Amino acid sequence: MKYNLLKGKRGIVFGALNDMSIAWKVAERAVEEGAIITLSNTPVAVRMGDTNELGKKLNAEILPADATNVEDLEMVFSKSMEILGGKIDFVLHSIGMSPNVRKKKTYDDLDYNLLDKTLDISAVSFHKMLQTAKKMDAISEGGSVLALTFIAAQRVFTGYNDMADAKALLESITRSFGYIYGREKGVRINTISQSPTMTTAGSGIKGVDDLLDFAERMSPIGNADADDCADYCIAMFSDLTRKVTMQNLYNDGGFSSMGMSLRAMKQYASGPDDNIDDDGNIIYG
Ligand SMILES: NC(=O)c1ccc[n+]([C@@H]2O[C@H](COP(=O)([O-])OP(=O)(O)OC[C@H]3O[C@@H](n4cnc5c(N)ncnc54)[C@H](O)[C@@H]3O)[C@@H](O)[C@H]2O)c1
Repeated sequence: MKYNLLKGKRGIVFGALNDMSIAWKVAERAVEEGAIITLSNTPVAVRMGDTNELGKKLNAEILPADATNVEDLEMVFSKSMEILGGKIDFVLHSIGMSPNVRKKKTYDDLDYNLLDKTLDISAVSFHKMLQTAKKMDAISEGGSVLALTFIAAQRVFTGYNDMADAKALLESITRSFGYIYGREKGVRINTISQSPTMTTAGSGIKGVDDLLDFAERMSPIGNADADDCADYCIAMFSDLTRKVTMQNLYNDGGFSSMGMSLRAMKQYASGPDDNIDDDGNIIYG
């Protein structure tokens, strides 16, 4: 359904890699709602992924940039203002990556150089984006900036590894910068904490299929998918949410308020029997 919620607004969407990416769905919905946008991703992602295809489809220029590099970010903001014809009304940070997870390093055997990279790519890049935009006065009064996060920032999720620390930092940057940017320029900054979602980054989480199944059983209205997330982002970019800032907003079907659901409990109760062999020994698998 189309509501023209972003009519006349200018936006930048970081992190659309392929049609599973949450940023891909947000870009499509933003244009559908009347916005004009630019897209950004790393040069290698632009070469290897499908970002160009999305650019053609949405008539959106692609600005290759490493979000950990301040000069690259300056280029993205200045070119976006030039291409779109004015200050930016909304920005999506949909960026995350842990080289420790990729290299299968466990949380009690982290490579600290790789941890620096995880934090830089997945969290500090958001600070760099905000600081760059503020110094350039690139975001219009009342503009809306969003980053995507996961509940592993608050609670332990097996296998989420150093990304949990990155998400905790991302949410803290959202509050700290939200105060300053809000007070000085009326810009609002929030994170959306999304259900586990099957994307390229999502499939990097150990046991993601089981996590999706567990979250689905725990959530009274089921997991939110990438399209649901896109709809929430559109609402947050629109003028309908102009007093919402410095928040971590759950888009998770109720998961974050649950302790235990009947569906998850039943699954758990029937689980151990499936893991016992004919001689009664537990199969750890
Ligand atoms: N998929 C999930 O289960 C889930 C749940 C909650 C939050 N999130 C968050 O949503 C966001 C988007 O992830 P996704 O699930 O759509 O996966 P995705 O793999 O499609 O997107 C991740 C993006 O980050 C980009 N990226 C990596 N390093 C970068 C850098 N240095 N500079 C610029 N871009 C860089 C990648 O190229 C890719 O486009 C991430 O922050 C992720 O942590 C995902």
